[in-house]
Amino acid sequence: MMITDINSAWEELRKRVEACTKCGLCQTRNNIVFGEGPVNSKCVIIGEAPGEEEDMSGRPFVGKAGQLLTKILENGGGIPRASVYITNTIKCRPPNNRNPNTDETDACREYWEAQLLLIQPSIIVTMGNIPTKALTNTQRGITTIRGVWQKWRGIDLLPMYHPSYLLRREGDLTVRKQTWDDVKSLKAKLAALK
Ligand code: URA
Ligand code: SF4
Repeated sequence: MMITDINSAWEELRKRVEACTKCGLCQTRNNIVFGEGPVNSKCVIIGEAPGEEEDMSGRPFVGKAGQLLTKILENGGGIPRASVYITNTIKCRPPNNRNPNTDETDACREYWEAQLLLIQPSIIVTMGNIPTKALTNTQRGITTIRGVWQKWRGIDLLPMYHPSYLLRREGDLTVRKQTWDDVKSLKAKLAALK
């Protein structure tokens, strides 16, 4: 696809999400959180859903968990945050950060699918159970599937712990080491693309 075609398809998709009322989360959101990063990135990171700071700013992963994500990528993997595309499985904040229900994840699926089909990355990273289950249909929980490369429609996919989980487990050296290993695995896969 020509880059101009991608850009217009992308803006059209963003407008659809801005106007979306497909699930009840449209009633409580302040802003949609579409995602940010280069549309030609080799790597897309998919989180769960926007939190309070994200809902207020309209940007993904800008709160505490987001700051930790940036650190993991940059300090752990030497991967600049600005080099990856970052989004979520759910584009509107669930009230009080409750987990999204299946009606909401089903309703919002078409948007991240469309984003992935337009970006066509070589690598997808899912952070935590919600995106990992949405993209791989696995029954396995994140503690056993993290670090084990999967596929989404032929694209390499790495499940990792969600940074909010890491914040709740601060001081747990095992999960810290596992995350360190996973970001190294991501770095190696990215390096092998070039
Ligand atoms: N947690 C997420 O999963 N996504 C965000 O954008 C912020 C926090
Ligand atoms: Fe639409 Fe997704 Fe927002 Fe629900 S969460 S209103 S499906 S954009």
